[in-house]
Amino acid sequence: MLAVHEDRIAAAVARLGSENAFEVLARARQLEAEGRRVVHMEIGEPDFDTPEHIKKAAVEALYDNHTHYTPSSGIPSLRETIAAYASRFRRITPAYTLDNVVISPGAKPIIWNVLSAILDPGDDFVYFDPAYPAYASCASYQQANVHAIPLLESRNWRMDLDELERRVSDKTKAVVINSPHNPTGGVLTKGDLERIASLAERHDFLVIADEIYSRNFYLDVPYVSIAALPGMRERTIIVDGFSKAYAMTGWRLGYAIMPERLAKTVTLFNNNTFSCVATFVQMAGIAALTGDDTPVQRMNDIFRQRRDRLVNGLNDIPGVSCTLPEGAFYAFPNVSEITHDDRALAKFLLEEGGVACGGGSSFGAAGKGYLRFSYAASLEDIDWALESIAKTIPKFKG
Ligand SMILES: Cc1ncc(COP(=O)(O)O)c(C=O)c1O
Repeated sequence: MLAVHEDRIAAAVARLGSENAFEVLARARQLEAEGRRVVHMEIGEPDFDTPEHIKKAAVEALYDNHTHYTPSSGIPSLRETIAAYASRFRRITPAYTLDNVVISPGAKPIIWNVLSAILDPGDDFVYFDPAYPAYASCASYQQANVHAIPLLESRNWRMDLDELERRVSDKTKAVVINSPHNPTGGVLTKGDLERIASLAERHDFLVIADEIYSRNFYLDVPYVSIAALPGMRERTIIVDGFSKAYAMTGWRLGYAIMPERLAKTVTLFNNNTFSCVATFVQMAGIAALTGDDTPVQRMNDIFRQRRDRLVNGLNDIPGVSCTLPEGAFYAFPNVSEITHDDRALAKFLLEEGGVACGGGSSFGAAGKGYLRFSYAASLEDIDWALESIAKTIPKFKG
């Protein structure tokens, strides 16, 4: 008789990671159902409504019967629109074409499909710590050798590039970067990107640039993509999407831009998994990129105000210190004077104080002793949360 594990779950599943924010959200909702006030700062999604013209385009597309399968890479008109937008926004020459673009239901699945397309077991894969969990989860699942480079609070959460230089070699298949960064709001400088680009050229590795927060950017200089640096268009895979810039998290629409041959392979993974993205959702994506951009700028202005209010307020709390995020919508305060058990503190803040946030160590070992707050909450809620955190922390026995 075959010896089969009772639950029949593959051993490989043990290599998968997951996003802790969804668990915190579930508990926060439970407390709300019991009548408690909770301020939601745990999950990485804008609290704004999707702009009207985007919703209208989706509804019209539905009534025009755009309700059937599409090519696995996405509809040509959306891919063309993305190629033009991305080339213009990032100042890429020669401009991308639709053959460089692959559409997916959110950026997360395309991270999985890109990594599946490039990683063999034993390949060296380099990312950073703390990080959005999807990269290491997939790379570990694919049995790559996964190396994490610390991000340094002292460099406003930019990568330790000396450590990167020591870590990469001719065996490195790919390095992932994420700027602006989840969970810290850190932004790599042009100088940082140039150094990473020169290492990529020297060791012939690919760079996966997760630029999903490229429109949530608060510096008064133009956004710089590593893909725009000399020689990098051909070795960069840009990951981007509509969730964060256009408040479209629930629509599930993202994409990646990459050299054409790789795009064909990634499309094969789309074909084998979700087949294609809902057609009317893709049509809405065209409206987002070609329509009025002021809602995006308005949301960013509000995010910036909230950032300032939250970071100043956190820095006023004894034992808490927080750097100023330059992008995304996360603050990543250091609470190590209070505790190194950040997850216990996050739990306590939720249970006792009604403030839902994440423990920094959910994003990797280097996040130990930090908390992540998503400032996708109103100024009023942020003020309430700050008051509650200040009152709750002294009661914590960590
Ligand atoms: C860094 C980063 N990349 C990718 C994603 C995936 O976004 P989505 O799948 O909603 O497009 C997220 C979402 O939180 C993120 O923070």
